[in-house]
Amino acid sequence: MRPYVFINSAMSADGKISTVARKQVRISGEDDLRRVDALKANVDAVMVGVGTVLADDPKLTIKSVVLKRTRVDQGRTESPLRVVVDSRARTPPTAAVLGPNALIVTSRQAPRHRVEELETKAEILVVGERKVDLAALLGRLKDKGVESLLVEGGATLNFALLNLGLVDEIYTYVGNIIIGGSAAPTLVDGEGLTNDFVKLNLQEIRQIGDGVLIKWRVVSF
Ligand SMILES: NC(=O)c1ccc[n+]([C@@H]2O[C@H](COP(=O)([O-])OP(=O)(O)OC[C@H]3O[C@@H](n4cnc5c(N)ncnc54)[C@H](OP(=O)(O)O)[C@@H]3O)[C@@H](O)[C@H]2O)c1
Repeated sequence: MRPYVFINSAMSADGKISTVARKQVRISGEDDLRRVDALKANVDAVMVGVGTVLADDPKLTIKSVVLKRTRVDQGRTESPLRVVVDSRARTPPTAAVLGPNALIVTSRQAPRHRVEELETKAEILVVGERKVDLAALLGRLKDKGVESLLVEGGATLNFALLNLGLVDEIYTYVGNIIIGGSAAPTLVDGEGLTNDFVKLNLQEIRQIGDGVLIKWRVVSF
């Protein structure tokens, strides 16, 4: 048993989610940022890979005061549980994601001193020997009451989850810019597939600002 999992990402017209410098770049406009905030307000947890934490230092919290208040009125936390997949505990102790309601998921190979440093600023969960065992993690999140999980990248985590058949839906906002660069991350990187590709069903296409939102459902086997 696992939560309902969906990936949300903004990418350029050429499929890049960042530049060759791997730093955050503005791909979508205010309208789409509001859509993402509303999406976040509806889920129990938001998850990223440590690569995204190191590159972008995201907070992963809800921005809208109204949406935060609505959650609290419903008896929920102001923002969803913030989860970082981080086998070696590389999340910097100063990372913006740390604080109450943050969960750093490591493997057994994480150095003890780094875990101890993070332990004062977030809950730590050890799942896996060398890498975080993603299937086991989703089971643990479900046990904690997480029914819906929004994955906000990056490219490596997206691949790992899709490759394991752990994703139900993908939302991509395609912005009106070209980034280019063969080393720039795309929506899904990792080792890639040479056959048995992940198949998708088109659910919705909607223009938002100068770009387009595409919703896909992952076809399960
Ligand atoms: N446009 C957008 O919407 C958007 C959103 C998010 C990110 N981004 C961009 O994406 C880039 C970051 O992506 P990224 O691919 O470098 O990093 P990432 O996918 O965020 O994180 C990957 C890291 O997660 C850790 N990990 C732990 N267990 C894993 C497992 N079982 N499978 C896979 N990974 C596991 C690995 O590090 P350890 O082995 O050390 O654990 C791995 O290197 C940045 O440039 C960022 O700006 C863009």
